[in-house]
Amino acid sequence: MRYLVTSALPYANGPVHVGHLAGAYLPADIFTRFLKKKGIDAIHICGTDEHGVPITITAEKEKTTPEKIAEKYHRIIKEEFSAVYVEFENFSRTTIDIHTKLAQSFFLRLLEKGYIERRDTEQFYCPKCQRFLPDRYVEGTCPYCGYEQARGDQCERCGRWLEPVLLKNPRCKICGTPPVMKKTTHWYMKLNEMQPWIEEWVKTKDWKPNVSSAVYKWLNEGLKPRAITRDLSWGVPVPLDEAKGKVLYVWFDAPIGYISSTIEWAERIGEPEKWKDYWMDRETRLVHFIGKDNIVFHTIIWPAMLKGYGEFVLPHAIPANEFLNLEGDKISTSRNWAIWLDDFAGKFDPDFLRFYITMIMPETKDSNFSWDEFQERVTSELIDNFGNFVNRTLSFINKYMGGRIPHPGNLTADDNQILRRIEKDAEKMAEYLFEYRFRDGLKVFRELSREGNRYFDRNQPWRTRKEDPERAKTTLYISAVLADALADLGEIFIPGGTRRVKQMLGTEFRPWDEVLAPVLKGGEELKDVKPPYKKIDEEVIVLEKRRFQMEYVTIDDFKKLGLKVGKVEKVETVEGANKLYKLTVNLGDETRTLVAGLRPYYTEEELQDKLIVVITNLEPATIRGVKSEGMLLAADDGRVVSIVSPDKEVAPGSEVR
Ligand code: 2FM
Ligand code: ZN
Repeated sequence: MRYLVTSALPYANGPVHVGHLAGAYLPADIFTRFLKKKGIDAIHICGTDEHGVPITITAEKEKTTPEKIAEKYHRIIKEEFSAVYVEFENFSRTTIDIHTKLAQSFFLRLLEKGYIERRDTEQFYCPKCQRFLPDRYVEGTCPYCGYEQARGDQCERCGRWLEPVLLKNPRCKICGTPPVMKKTTHWYMKLNEMQPWIEEWVKTKDWKPNVSSAVYKWLNEGLKPRAITRDLSWGVPVPLDEAKGKVLYVWFDAPIGYISSTIEWAERIGEPEKWKDYWMDRETRLVHFIGKDNIVFHTIIWPAMLKGYGEFVLPHAIPANEFLNLEGDKISTSRNWAIWLDDFAGKFDPDFLRFYITMIMPETKDSNFSWDEFQERVTSELIDNFGNFVNRTLSFINKYMGGRIPHPGNLTADDNQILRRIEKDAEKMAEYLFEYRFRDGLKVFRELSREGNRYFDRNQPWRTRKEDPERAKTTLYISAVLADALADLGEIFIPGGTRRVKQMLGTEFRPWDEVLAPVLKGGEELKDVKPPYKKIDEEVIVLEKRRFQMEYVTIDDFKKLGLKVGKVEKVETVEGANKLYKLTVNLGDETRTLVAGLRPYYTEEELQDKLIVVITNLEPATIRGVKSEGMLLAADDGRVVSIVSPDKEVAPGSEVR
């Protein structure tokens, strides 16, 4: 048996965030680490998805070329993954030559075999930009849920797959013009004809419930032919003379990237034929880790492509995750409602993120990342549990046992119970992990750590140290063995802290099944003992949280405020109110009265002739019998109140924006 593990190729159009990590990359990394530790041949393959409209739109936005965007984000994404210890055998790109050739060969073979047909059709065209508008270049109202900003390929709100022509009130994403229909030619994959085979194949699969329900929904609606080419200049050129200026649809070429990345890997390690073991040997289990928005492509279209092409293995499992929300809201890159991996890794131990994300992994339903919960869980379940157990054991040995792991004496029932439990728990964890149940796997680890702390408490080495030194030594020995085993079982989740524990113990990471037989014999010297994790920095959490407590407004919201510069022409007090001034303000083409609570902070002279900023379209209010027609802006830190005033002389009535 052999495993080829892939995780969805991220679009090279922006950095990767915690939602991506929870959806595909972390489970894939944990799974591959686990298989390897189990002694199973496994590789983790990925790369950036560098074609398609997501890249060209970003390039247009950043006023640069698709090449530069792909280059830039390929590098950033690769660094982000390594910052959180997500490892790959190969992290490729879909713009390499191997990939272009393989994608074209897929197209040609499927065409030859009759799985692809040419069709003349009509497509949206923007008369102003003078270009065809594929997928995401069209925006409009979702026909299913009414969301007004639906993209031409998919509605972000209800998740339905769309075609640009299905949108109500379509408009060009670049210039907003309603597009017109224009004749063009495209190539279609005849998924309708492949449906019977797909159905048979899907029946043999034991998908997770969230995956099969998505698949059957599609199959029940009936598969339709799907265009796999686009009128676009960025992508893999369609390898036909009659298709000049057309490229393969990014979703057609992207999954082929799994194969081309494997080929690139084989070449890089100097065994150019080795990729075939993974793609052509029926013994290989191909496992695709993806987020839920990628399910249909991996369970229906991609297997159909593989089947049509022949030669290659079909997916064995597709353990797709649901979505991770953030502080109760959908993650959104455009609203910057996200936690970026590189940003995180600069502030916290990457193990913290891996640990917490695994605890809340959206395996069966959406879950939620919250900073408060992050702090609480990481502290109580990692630092004060595993971290504390290791630290109290090793510091005790350091302090009272001369820094050497003691030799054990006679084992009590409790000692033996711990050794047996390590064995049982390693098996239980393995069962969960083979079933892609990472939360449950980590739970076993957490509970075993907790048992370590309880064992330590029960056996009270601080007491037996004097009363029964043999007992204390045995307790410490068993604790050290457990710490070593925990480091091994925890490695796949939290490679950083567990490595530090191994270094202190002077042991190496070992294969999963060997964890059962302790390597520590007693007498080994500890090295450089310190807690494996530092406490979470409260201040950093506070700052992170603040970013998510803010409610974002759009630029349109902001524009609704009529902000103008005014000049105070007259200052009067308001009868019966010792806090208020009545100000007469010149706003250029008009003069208005404002009532402001500034008397405790400003004298009349200080206000006279001052330039201020006024919200001119605030609903008028009558205060102490005086009608106030607007509001002035002032800063207030609880002690000082300070009027916001332009720092240069500008004409009254000037707009503030
Ligand atoms: O959704 C995405 O980010 C796509 N780039 C995933 C592609 S997965 C595979 F097909 F390559
Ligand atoms: Zn346009």
